[in-house]
Amino acid sequence: MKDYIKVDEWKIIEEGFDPHYNKISESIFSLGNGRMGQRANFEEAYSGDTLQGNYVAGVYYPDKTRVGWWKNGYPEYFAKVLNAANWIGIDITIEGEQLDLAQCTTQQFSRELNMKEGYLKRTFTATTKNGKQVAVESTRFCSMADDETGAIRYALTPLNFSGEVTITPYIDGDVKNKDANYDEKFWDEVKKGTSTNGAFVQLRTKKTGFEVATGMLVSILQNNQPIDAGFKPVEKEKYVALQTTLQVKANEPVTIYKFAANLSSQNHPADQLEEVLNDTLQRIAAKGFDTMLAEQAAAWAEKWKHNDIIIEGDASAQQGIRFNIFQLNQTYTGEDDRLNIGPKGFTGEKYGGSTYWDTEAYCVPFYLATADQKVTRNLLLYRYKQLGKAIENAASLGFNNGAALYPMVTMDGTECHNEWEITFEEIHRNGAIAYAIFNYVRYTADDAYLADYGLEVLIAISRFWSQRVNWSDDKQQYVMLGVTGPNEYENNINNNWYTSKLAVWCMKYTLEVVKQVKANEPDKYNALATKINFSIDSETAKWSNIVEQMYYPYSEKLGVFLQQDGYLDKEQILVKDLPAADRPINQKWSWDRILRSCYIKQADVLQGIYFFEDEYDLETIRRNFDFYEPRTVHESSLSPCVHAILAAKLGDEARAYEFYLRTSRLDLDDYNNDTEDGCHTTSMAGTWMSVVEGFGGMRVKDGKLSFQPFLPAKWNSFSFHVGFRGALLNIKVSKEGVQITNHSEAEIVVIVHGKEQLVKANADVILEA
Ligand code: BGC
Repeated sequence: MKDYIKVDEWKIIEEGFDPHYNKISESIFSLGNGRMGQRANFEEAYSGDTLQGNYVAGVYYPDKTRVGWWKNGYPEYFAKVLNAANWIGIDITIEGEQLDLAQCTTQQFSRELNMKEGYLKRTFTATTKNGKQVAVESTRFCSMADDETGAIRYALTPLNFSGEVTITPYIDGDVKNKDANYDEKFWDEVKKGTSTNGAFVQLRTKKTGFEVATGMLVSILQNNQPIDAGFKPVEKEKYVALQTTLQVKANEPVTIYKFAANLSSQNHPADQLEEVLNDTLQRIAAKGFDTMLAEQAAAWAEKWKHNDIIIEGDASAQQGIRFNIFQLNQTYTGEDDRLNIGPKGFTGEKYGGSTYWDTEAYCVPFYLATADQKVTRNLLLYRYKQLGKAIENAASLGFNNGAALYPMVTMDGTECHNEWEITFEEIHRNGAIAYAIFNYVRYTADDAYLADYGLEVLIAISRFWSQRVNWSDDKQQYVMLGVTGPNEYENNINNNWYTSKLAVWCMKYTLEVVKQVKANEPDKYNALATKINFSIDSETAKWSNIVEQMYYPYSEKLGVFLQQDGYLDKEQILVKDLPAADRPINQKWSWDRILRSCYIKQADVLQGIYFFEDEYDLETIRRNFDFYEPRTVHESSLSPCVHAILAAKLGDEARAYEFYLRTSRLDLDDYNNDTEDGCHTTSMAGTWMSVVEGFGGMRVKDGKLSFQPFLPAKWNSFSFHVGFRGALLNIKVSKEGVQITNHSEAEIVVIVHGKEQLVKANADVILEA
């Protein structure tokens, strides 16, 4: 845990340069716009410890799988988002010495991420080894308004000398992924070029053949007057630069404007990339930095209008929640249904930038409430389009008749994960995908989605579950053997309650949707049944049979659902009784010891109770919560939020707040000591859920939004926005009571503390405490 980030409601601020924190800050201060993103690396050279990272959404490389012992069924490769060309670089040489903060002494340093307007600003004063002191101020952003572009303003002022400064803005495509399995480089050069004030490199990924053209246009002002920089081109393999040496004067700033664009062959024909790049660069340079920055602020203002959460009375919590919302918006905008949300977004390489169940289980609720419904629809369509591959995946594992097993990790639908206990056994992800369809339809009432896409996915998933269970003669029930639940600290277990519950729920839901679509959209239903060879009678009979006769482990004595068969045989020492030196157990204990222990990595039974809470009375929820939470080590960032929501549901406000704190500033305070690898982007949606579903108690009940809010004791008030079926609501919870403001033309009935309230168009309702 660190606390070097200064508290501010709208900014993330680091003051003073501590190289030990550099990689953490590079993650925290990351920028992105859904289409591309980058870690907060320095523009000038830095020879200290750093993780360089620039990423272009959807551009990946299938890195050949590397495992100790090959298992049949393993995927051939792990698709990872690539470290792409660095477009921020500006080398500076001062009187022959490179400006490099690892070599200079730094008198002043600050980094500031302005979340309101979406830019990163850095200032420093540093002295080189030969005694030359400079002040630098750089501002840069990835444009939200024009998402293939970005810009930098880099102003350098000599403070104690006049002399020679060489400036070399560059584009460097000669980059590597740190997590490359075989230390290979993944890009080939297609072409490159320079002009009087511009340069570009076009690269092609090996194997996948994506092409990305990255270019820059540069202008320089000396003492605020534009100059003819007289750039000389420098070209190396996959690298282009423009170089100029200027005579600078003490206290007269040199300002470099670098306009950049990143264009991918996913969005433009490869043979036109150079031309489009050129046009794009001319267009943004003509617009100018200040106009681009103003557009950026406007684009962010629009985002904040729909998804800001305001917390009064706790600046640190305010900063935490805004940071989470900011990073989510930087990662995924929902513009493109080929893209998804990697667990680290654009802030690092870990997890390959690929899609996990995190999207459906954690991110969908955030986007449903804070963005146009097409954004979540696009996330669902992403999986719909990958259904063919999910069916192939299941077939390769021995399933048939169009059964689908969605991958644990993927870029393009192909499974990429290669630990057998997860690849083959952590199959609950299939259920999360079905649950997201249910959640989307429940929220939006877009029933047409079911007939057009949803049902096809649901049938394929139910086909999988119905083949994955087997009949136990001994139990005279269906069982599901050899699975891994969300708690990855248990592998190859039998009858994981959560997975079995979810599987049965999927089949039940599919049965309902079959009926509904057949009755309401018979033509679409018939076309689908023919397309996928759906034998309604025999298949639905089989599912109904499983639904009725599934076995779930349960402890009569404790009155709790058992995480799996045999869970109670484990030595039951609670987490609170574990020596601090043993935590986190995933770093301190051998794997077998973890597997044999009763410790739970993240919500497992409780994940199921969270999904299906309407099926359980409060006492059942309480018994399970009180049993499982004390055994949970929360070593996944996805864990605290589910516990915060359930604690809130149980009326345990203090604990709800405690769990919220563990998620809200997870990265800002480097809570898990791993932010240097990147931020926990998908769990940030969980933080949002802790506030809205936890403290706000928001649910959808019978087609209506329902709230059960309470105010955490430390706060004066909090408020959040939700969009629901055409209405745009702001819910403010304060000591005075609850205020619901409707910022739309759509009148709406909501439920607050169990009572219906009509909120007229452009009006509000105040419920006094
Ligand atoms: C969690 C998974 C999650 C993955 C990516 C793992 O540590 O256990 O549930 O999908 O991280 O966030």
